[in-house]
Amino acid sequence: MLETLRAQPADKILALMAAYKADPRDDKVDLGVGVYKDASGNTPVMRAVKEAERRILADQSSKAYTGLAGDPAFGAAMRDLVLGDSIAAERVAAVATPGGTGAIRQALELIKMAAPDATVWLSNPTWPNHPSIINYLGMKMATYTYFDDATCGVDFDGMLADLDGLAQGDIVLLHGCCHNPTGANLTADQIAQVIAIMQEKGAVPFIDIAYQGFGDGLVEDAQITRQIAGAFDNCLIAASCSKNFGIYRERTGILMAVAKDVDQQPLTQQTLAFLNRQNYSFPPDHGARVVTTILTDPNLRADWEAELEETRNGMLALRQQLADELKRLTNSDRFDFLAHHRGMFSRLGTTPELVEKLRADHGIYMIGDSRMNIAGLNAETVPILAKAIVSAGI
Ligand code: LMR
Repeated sequence: MLETLRAQPADKILALMAAYKADPRDDKVDLGVGVYKDASGNTPVMRAVKEAERRILADQSSKAYTGLAGDPAFGAAMRDLVLGDSIAAERVAAVATPGGTGAIRQALELIKMAAPDATVWLSNPTWPNHPSIINYLGMKMATYTYFDDATCGVDFDGMLADLDGLAQGDIVLLHGCCHNPTGANLTADQIAQVIAIMQEKGAVPFIDIAYQGFGDGLVEDAQITRQIAGAFDNCLIAASCSKNFGIYRERTGILMAVAKDVDQQPLTQQTLAFLNRQNYSFPPDHGARVVTTILTDPNLRADWEAELEETRNGMLALRQQLADELKRLTNSDRFDFLAHHRGMFSRLGTTPELVEKLRADHGIYMIGDSRMNIAGLNAETVPILAKAIVSAGI
């Protein structure tokens, strides 16, 4: 049986991780996978996470199953973190999932059940696992223009022109904040226009929010999600705790499905729990418990927010330093976009050949589409990267 298998396409992010690991050069720089690193190149366990884990270890008296949807307290805490009071809590069905990817997968399964003919529209570009999972599930997919390689900002006219092709019931996948892979984000006014065209066409929003707190702040980064959730009868939201709590390997995420009204919520909730049962039964609990402990304890929450702010400010400072350095070296404002982008990533807007040149000549690893992880830099490597970008002719 197994001899009939065919090799599956490699995920370019994971392939780059392996190539970096295999490179013997001491001065190599990893700007690949989206994992936060501090100035020493470590991915620390956040203070509040350590303390929450200590408490859980001391107090937990059972490892018996929670529920198919996970611990309801996790659902409530995450709903509050992501949605605030933008919509009535009673409209939200929610299940804990293994990471943000688990939430995306469950959302797509839900779409497949509820609207098998719908086309899922993705930004061009988007996180490569979006199209990969959609293809795997055999669903219909289309893309809308998003990034302008010339300005490294959003090509908003192109986006609106493409969304004009939406059919009734189509799904539009939007990044809640910190667009991956580009770092270029929509303004509140642009979101209002996107909402208007989606409403006119009868489309349904699906939001992937994996970097809340990495852009401008926890509340600021939730704004798009809240604006959209408040404007539609239905909305799907896949949220990840991997990055903002730094608990990547715990696989902690949540899928929230906003029902039209309170009466529709129980059926949605039951369906989400059913989907969990089919795919992995009970979702992982440890990371969700850590998150709930932090979000519901005022002191732990304050400490977590403070550390998250330090993380965010560190990335913003690196962005500014890189933009300044490139301004100095090129005597132009061509790279100012780096300071305007938000989140972990920026896309340089250059060719795969020049990205390869950076890797071969300078040991600098970024994804082939020129996405770089800003958190992979530090004050010493920023000037090295800036010089390499200029000498490669980008
Ligand atoms: C990324 O985009 O690098 C992260 O979301 C990690 C991943 O799983 O791809």
